[in-house]
Amino acid sequence: MISKLKYIPMVLGPLIMTAVVIVLAIFILRAWWTTPFQVFGMGEPPEQPIAFPHTQHVKIDGISCAFCHQNVIRGDAATMPAVEQCLFCHATIQGDTAPPEVAKVVAHFESGTPINWKKIHRLPDHVQFSHEPHVRFLTQTQGLGIEAACATCHGDVRNMVEVEQVRRLKMGDCVDCHRDNIYLTDNKDITDCVTCHY
Ligand code: HEC
Ligand code: HEC
Ligand code: HEC
Ligand code: HEC
Ligand code: HEC
Repeated sequence: MISKLKYIPMVLGPLIMTAVVIVLAIFILRAWWTTPFQVFGMGEPPEQPIAFPHTQHVKIDGISCAFCHQNVIRGDAATMPAVEQCLFCHATIQGDTAPPEVAKVVAHFESGTPINWKKIHRLPDHVQFSHEPHVRFLTQTQGLGIEAACATCHGDVRNMVEVEQVRRLKMGDCVDCHRDNIYLTDNKDITDCVTCHY
């Protein structure tokens, strides 16, 4: 009896190891390929508190991406414009005849409450991402204009009435681009796990 029991760990060990390997493989494949909630497509963009059209502001008014997303050329997050920045125009051009969506913007300004824009792009907390090195690389090394640099990852926002995610930006996508461009940068660690995960 006892002599048979001693074989149990020898059988269980490999079984547990196999299970661990399979679970890890599923985790990594998921990170590599799928989008957060679906396998195909990026999913519907969330409904925003105010229907803000990029088309009007970028195409018609000609405002630069970096005027509103000010931190994008110098920091990690691109950041959202403060309500004060919207009022820069909407206080004067609209007056009392403001369309309802603009009236909501003014109401936020008057009550001093920020607009809670819903996030469209979101990486998991364990992933490091900074806009600054990417925008710098695309504009300086690749010679793109600022808007074309954004379009590399965010698509044609200029023509989006409602912003949606068009590029997967999953692990496989990030690593492929790092591998393809590593020869163009002095940053030779960009394919290491710890560059994106601490
Ligand atoms: C007048 C200000 C303004 C300008 C100019 C502007 N944006 Fe935005 N952007 C916003 C606001 C407000 C939101 C949040 C509402 C929304 O998603 O539409 C936003 C959202 C976004 C998002 C989605 C953020 C997320 O949650 O993932 C991206 C990407 C984006 N903008 C890129 C751009 C690009 C690229 C340009 C230039 C072509 C640009 N924006 C120009 C104000 C602006
Ligand atoms: C450089 C000037 C400028 C800035 C800055 C600006 N807007 Fe506008 N916005 C305009 C103009 C011009 C229109 C078109 C006005 C019209 O159709 O009567 C417009 C239209 C809009 C509309 C659509 C109104 C409708 O229903 O037709 C919304 C919503 C809006 N802006 C929100 C914002 C928000 C939110 C911000 C800040 C993130 C912002 N705007 C910053 C100039 C600006
Ligand atoms: C290399 C790909 C890449 C490029 C280039 C890029 N972005 Fe992003 N952007 C991302 C990713 C990934 C996220 C999600 C970040 C997160 O969840 O931490 C994001 C998030 C955002 C957001 C919402 C959250 C935030 O960071 O505040 C805005 C707005 C945005 N980007 C605007 C821009 C603009 C404007 C440009 C061009 C100047 C640009 N991005 C260039 C990949 C990129
Ligand atoms: C368009 C190609 C491209 C895409 C897509 C891209 N990267 Fe990068 N990334 C680069 C390049 C090139 C560098 C090196 C920039 C430099 O010269 O410092 C870099 C640098 C980095 C760095 C190091 C930054 C530093 O300060 O050292 C991190 C972290 C990073 N990327 C994360 C990501 C993540 C996460 C994604 C996917 C969501 C992503 N990248 C998508 C091209 C890309
Ligand atoms: C260029 C950036 C980058 C590099 C390098 C990178 N990863 Fe990732 N990794 C990501 C991103 C982005 C995600 C998140 C994907 C998602 O779920 O949206 C991720 C997710 C993961 C996950 C979590 C899976 C999940 O479903 O949550 C694991 C595990 C992982 N990576 C392991 C690794 C290992 C091991 C390496 C080195 C061989 C590595 N990563 C290198 C960007 C990177």
